[in-house]
Amino acid sequence: MGVELMRRNDELIQSKINSRKAKVCIVGLGYVGVPLAVASAKAGFDVIGVDVDESKVASINKGVSHVEDPYSEKLLPDLVSKGKIRATTRLVEGAKDADVVIICVQTPLDKKGIPDLSFVKKVTQGLSRLLSNYKLIILESTSYPGTTQEVVFPILKRGKGRTSRGFGLVYSPERIDYGNPKYNVSKIPKVVGGMDNESTMLGASFYGSILEAPVFKVSSPSVAEASKMLENIFRYVNIALVNELAVLHEKLGVDFVETIQAATTKPFGFMPHYPGPGVGGHCIPKDPFYLVYKAKKVGMNLRLVATAKTVNTMMPRHVVERLDNALKRQGKKLDKSTVSLWGLAYKGQVRDTRRSPAVDILKLLRHRKATVRPYDPYVRSVRLGTTAIESTRSIEESVQDADCILIATAHKAFGRVDLRKLAGRMKRDPLMFDSRNMLSRTSCEAAGFKYLGTGRP
Ligand SMILES: NC(=O)c1ccc[n+]([C@@H]2O[C@H](COP(=O)([O-])OP(=O)(O)OC[C@H]3O[C@@H](n4cnc5c(N)ncnc54)[C@H](O)[C@@H]3O)[C@@H](O)[C@H]2O)c1
Repeated sequence: MGVELMRRNDELIQSKINSRKAKVCIVGLGYVGVPLAVASAKAGFDVIGVDVDESKVASINKGVSHVEDPYSEKLLPDLVSKGKIRATTRLVEGAKDADVVIICVQTPLDKKGIPDLSFVKKVTQGLSRLLSNYKLIILESTSYPGTTQEVVFPILKRGKGRTSRGFGLVYSPERIDYGNPKYNVSKIPKVVGGMDNESTMLGASFYGSILEAPVFKVSSPSVAEASKMLENIFRYVNIALVNELAVLHEKLGVDFVETIQAATTKPFGFMPHYPGPGVGGHCIPKDPFYLVYKAKKVGMNLRLVATAKTVNTMMPRHVVERLDNALKRQGKKLDKSTVSLWGLAYKGQVRDTRRSPAVDILKLLRHRKATVRPYDPYVRSVRLGTTAIESTRSIEESVQDADCILIATAHKAFGRVDLRKLAGRMKRDPLMFDSRNMLSRTSCEAAGFKYLGTGRP
């Protein structure tokens, strides 16, 4: 395609973005796609969402957010009823006439721990056949540096037959922390890196029109992809650091949480991370291994990530060992004890149990023949193999005649309970193991508990 025609295409999309007449297609209506569809429609664009999952499509078309994101839950019903958002299972219906297409499908690891880009490739192949109008294509799914240029671009280029009017291509990492009431999708700054200057400018202009936060342009999709890897590896490794030091300080008899609070008073060069029972969720335990894979391709072993994995994955086991030892000191045995397990979700205020350390703890406790009574106000049940483990219906039911409470998820509600009343329902010498450090030792001990916290003696 001639440079002149290309320029006219860019200008056309730019003016459609400015006037909000650009049609936006979001492919993949999950935790990332739904808030993005809402932010785009709220800014004035007509949005079509595409998902292979019929139930998600049906739910969007009813105006009900199936993702637990307060921003989407609040705004979606009105946007759907006004016809600003609709959903379909057919890519051709959503993307054929779209001007901006954003790919938000999952990027998991396969059974061998290798990046599985099959979902991204499938969507890209479909899009390569739908380039009869010029489109700005944006990849948001998390992946290693090089994915946009080496995987997505060649597939789209192959589709550039006689009918193709060309495309702009951008990578823009998603940083959403769904459930976070302070930072909804529109408040999080966005990094944008295009295959060429025009793509970068269009991408920046689109996000600038839907977000309240700044957009940061980088020189290539690879830098944008690498920035996402850096952010999540930074978290993974730093959490491993405080987890390892927490175990040490338990042995030293020094309160490590207080230690972190003290270090945080340094006004530069320190950022607090907090220890816990492990690392969960869809992103942090998975994303670093995208870069590990890419590093291996160029003959490099990311040793820090490997060590961080060893430390983080041993935390649930460490929690159970500590609990076992604490019970022994009270003359009790784990396999004869009842554990009231508070939380199943991987983080507070959500029902997501993907890679949840709380579920790992549940498995380990059951393996050690403890009686476990989980309670999670957000999660009804979790599946362990073929067995479904139900949450008890109330915290009182969960603690009744239990020997100990183990807090595995930082749901805020757990910080508001009447500890004295709960202790009264439990067996003699009740134990409180707060692996998330939500409660104070003083309040637990005042209520009659023997207290333990991660990193705390
Ligand atoms: N969840 C988060 O908090 C988060 C944060 C930042 C980045 N990310 C990244 O964003 C991407 C999406 O994550 P997510 O949590 O939204 O995943 P998700 O599993 O919740 O959603 C992905 C959706 O894509 C759909 N899909 C799969 N193949 C499709 C196809 N061919 N056509 C149409 N739809 C298809 C799935 O049915 C699913 O609904 C991943 O790469 C993830 O690593 C996620």
